[in-house]
Amino acid sequence: MPNSRGPRRPKIGVFDSGVGGLTVLRALVERIPDADYLYFGDTARLPYGSKSAATVAHYAVGAVRYLQDQGAELLVIACNTATALALDEIKAAAGVEVIGVVEPGAHAAAAATRKRKVVVIGTEATISSHAYRRALEALEVAVREKACPLFVPLVEEGWVEHPVTEQVAKIYLSEAFSEEGRDADVLVLGCTHYPLIKPLLRRVAPEHVAIVDSAESTAQDVARHLGHQLKIEPLSSSAETKSERGGVPKLKFFATDSAEKFRKMGTRFLGLPVEDVLHVDLKE
Ligand code: DGL
Repeated sequence: MPNSRGPRRPKIGVFDSGVGGLTVLRALVERIPDADYLYFGDTARLPYGSKSAATVAHYAVGAVRYLQDQGAELLVIACNTATALALDEIKAAAGVEVIGVVEPGAHAAAAATRKRKVVVIGTEATISSHAYRRALEALEVAVREKACPLFVPLVEEGWVEHPVTEQVAKIYLSEAFSEEGRDADVLVLGCTHYPLIKPLLRRVAPEHVAIVDSAESTAQDVARHLGHQLKIEPLSSSAETKSERGGVPKLKFFATDSAEKFRKMGTRFLGLPVEDVLHVDLKE
């Protein structure tokens, strides 16, 4: 609602199983700097990617209720696994608008593919849910899905430019782009952690393949939802540049495991200092 001091800043809740969703938060603050962000990382209970749908839904619903109690007016489910397995349950439990990462990623992939055939990579749980397949087939795009469970621990180890990660990527992608994936011309990064190895994946993926990052497309969707004009200039760490743009994001973080650990690892994923972190103990 506009008021005498300009438009009211939206309070956006961002949920992920851990620090990976900070790649989505990064894309959000680049697009929508003039907002307050509440980020919840369920670090004590990750990884979600190897868990059942019932468990992921139970954890995710608890976390988004917490974000709403903190005042979130719009919820972004940054975690691909939670979106793929539990978006309906989260929406049913939330009293506010909920945006997941699968639909925006699928739409961006459908817009990018000329051959109407894409490869989606993600965690074991995301891939076996076939959420991306359903979203893409509804857009008349054929899909080859490939679980890449080793990428999350490799990225968390900081091995984003490492020969082992490169070797693993070669094995996963050569499998993904064989057989019915042979003609695919788009690779969808269906996991929060994968944007960190995008340069490596770019080198390893077949040259003609375009890479679609669901973090980017989700941020665009949220911006559209808020009626913002897209701001394509990336957020710099200079306060002057930010104030020239008229918006400085306010970031507050909640983590279910150690706040200190979140601060350290989070800075790498966000590309900005992670400062205001509160440890949260969610009752089972
Ligand atoms: N955030 C998860 C995802 O995007 C990856 C990490 C996990 O398995 O919890 O699928």
